[in-house]
Amino acid sequence: MGYQNLREFVKVLRDNGELVEIGASLSPRYEIGAALRYLDQRSGKAVLFKNAAGYNCPVIGNLLGSNKRLALALEVEPEHVLEEFKKRTQQLIKPVVVSKGPVQEIVLSEEIDLLKVIPALTHHEKDAGPYLTSALVVAVDPDSGERGMGIHRILIKDKNKIGLFLYNPPIGAYFHKAEQRGKPLDIAVVLGVDPALFLASIASNQGGKLNKFEMAGGLKGGPVELVPTADSGLEIPAQAEFVLLGKVLPGIRESEGPFGESSGYYLTYQNPVGVIHTIMHRQEPLYHALMPYNRENSLLLNLIWESSYGTTLKKEIPQLTDFRLTSVLGMCALLQIKKTAEGQPKEILEHVLKSSPLIKSAVVVDTDVDLSDLGEVSWAISTRFQPHRDLLLLNDMTGYPLDPSADNSVTSKWGIDATKPLGQESLFEKVEVPQQAMQKVSSILQGLFN
Ligand SMILES: Cc1cc2nc3c(=O)[nH]c(=O)nc-3n(C[C@H](O)[C@H](O)[C@H](O)COP(=O)(O)O)c2cc1C
Repeated sequence: MGYQNLREFVKVLRDNGELVEIGASLSPRYEIGAALRYLDQRSGKAVLFKNAAGYNCPVIGNLLGSNKRLALALEVEPEHVLEEFKKRTQQLIKPVVVSKGPVQEIVLSEEIDLLKVIPALTHHEKDAGPYLTSALVVAVDPDSGERGMGIHRILIKDKNKIGLFLYNPPIGAYFHKAEQRGKPLDIAVVLGVDPALFLASIASNQGGKLNKFEMAGGLKGGPVELVPTADSGLEIPAQAEFVLLGKVLPGIRESEGPFGESSGYYLTYQNPVGVIHTIMHRQEPLYHALMPYNRENSLLLNLIWESSYGTTLKKEIPQLTDFRLTSVLGMCALLQIKKTAEGQPKEILEHVLKSSPLIKSAVVVDTDVDLSDLGEVSWAISTRFQPHRDLLLLNDMTGYPLDPSADNSVTSKWGIDATKPLGQESLFEKVEVPQQAMQKVSSILQGLFN
């Protein structure tokens, strides 16, 4: 039944050769981030820093930075990650409340100094300071009392003072409601959880229809264990590495940033401020770092958008056989279709480009092109696309706020029809080795490259 906690998952990564362990002493200020960037582009594995300089707390990063590790997280074959993620996040399982959890092993409630305990990374050159980038913020809806969670970037501003980017629902909406009543919002900032809980925290809760704790239960195939906290009324994941209890204050906005974001650009906002009054952690805790703009960041964002947006598109476009998002922030949609008429790919391109501000470009290919292999998509563009005939350009569209080239969120969009013309099957027939030979050699050779 899934992993109980982050430690169990790290052990599985180690056993599967998916973990690089670094003994050198590296500083959380820039150096661990630099190593995560360097190794993301070279080894592609998760990284355990055993010696974060100045701390008695190891740091794990690039945790879910490959499809293979997402597959290990969900305990499925790599080709089934997306469909399992979609399926299981609909199979809701309610959390259970237990009386005690390992996260309460150490409780600090006096002279709070976040940076004394947590090796939060300063990631990019111009970042305003150390940021928590993998933090699940947990709170309760001031109206309904329902609990919710989401990942939100958090700047450590001072010993117990934080700045938070509470944009997305449900937490953004909870804070808004509390603030309208002039009240602070009690929060728990949760660091270092099992991969199902982490993935559920970034999943779309479909406009409030689904509860992310229940989605986490579905993803891991069993209930999340929560433990009550004394004074805030919140229930927190019992197996987390760290939990910080605090409040987001109403009526205050301060500069939060610059912060090197998922988009690959620095962003600064006027954002709410919080104070932390309690730090809880396990004995010998492990800190989960997430390097923005690394492969992991795009992979996670694409997973949630492919699963929510892809499901909608499949309903709208009967010819669609596969759908992927690629490029930073998923702004390029890859569409595989079973083409039945000339002109159809351009109609589909127009529909998709107009369907969301997120999608700036799109490519349509035939069913013999594997969307998980960008080399194949590029091959189809090079050999099946004629720019004078197959390019679609749309002007004056609503763009994505994180795209700095969009002028006040107004953008042009392009689409590429890289499908074969109908009726020219032999000219465009793709070379293949015989299936039987492939099956035979794959059963002999598989395992050699794991
Ligand atoms: C790596 C990562 C960082 C994120 N950081 C923030 C953030 O700082 N603020 C925010 O409001 N949402 C952030 N999100 C998005 C939310 O955590 C969550 O994915 C989003 O609310 C999707 O759920 P929804 O469709 O139900 O809103 C981040 C997501 C990811 C994957």
